[in-house]
Amino acid sequence: MQRTAGQTMLECHDLTRTYNEGPQDITVLDGLSLTVNAGERVAIVGSSGSGKTTLLNLLGGLDRPSRGEVRIAGESLLNLGETALGRFRNRHIGFVYQFHHLLAEFTAVENAALPLIVRGQRKKDAEASALRLLEKVGMAARGDHKPGELSGGERQRVAIARALVTDPSLVLMDEPTGNLDQHTAAGILALMDELAHTAACAFVIVTHDPALAAHQDRVLRLDDGRLSEQPREP
Ligand SMILES: Nc1ncnc2c1ncn2[C@@H]1O[C@H](COP(=O)(O)OP(=O)(O)OP(=O)(O)O)[C@@H](O)[C@H]1O
Ligand SMILES: [Mg+2]
Repeated sequence: MQRTAGQTMLECHDLTRTYNEGPQDITVLDGLSLTVNAGERVAIVGSSGSGKTTLLNLLGGLDRPSRGEVRIAGESLLNLGETALGRFRNRHIGFVYQFHHLLAEFTAVENAALPLIVRGQRKKDAEASALRLLEKVGMAARGDHKPGELSGGERQRVAIARALVTDPSLVLMDEPTGNLDQHTAAGILALMDELAHTAACAFVIVTHDPALAAHQDRVLRLDDGRLSEQPREP
């Protein structure tokens, strides 16, 4: 997709999510708004249980809001049925889950190639692209290993490669560097910078890591179901 830095990539208004399970309803997100431009990187911080994963799931079309709407690349997710939504996510969104969600039976290369296979690409081409991404996250030498043979941080890096392999417009990451040492995390940051600058990719990154948050263009705090701008440390 042709993207230009500064164009609106993600927009949501009045986003509300109430969970109706158990004896009482809990409203986790309450009339939240957010706009992210192409090429922009936004960090979301907030205490445990404040709703960060809930928010990413809504932004990524993995869950539906109780009220409000999410627009990505101009398209309202409300207008898409399940099949169309699946296709849209494959085309536009890269998702790095809080817990990596790799397929245990598949190797690192096969896992990273999967979104391209789903798209209908030939296995050989998809795996060549996957290997290029694995190289960028420092995992090329482990391409033939299955998740069970990899460390937590290595699995996380394979999950990052899988999220980026499709050249997504929007990348949503839930604690992407939680398991990574400083040097490896710096490599992932450099890759994100490159994608934001050269591919005008937009990022929304949930993190507890102050260094990762400070590296983004904006830091927003999720509190009481809404986002507010977090002032920069002097
Ligand atoms: N499917 C669900 N049903 C009911 N309640 C839920 C569900 N998913 C999340 N919650 C509740 O919503 C609140 C926010 O959860 P969420 O996972 O979004 O928090 P978080 O900010 O990502 O926390 P953490 O930093 O610990 O990952 C929590 O109180 C949680 O118990
Ligand atoms: Mg979470």
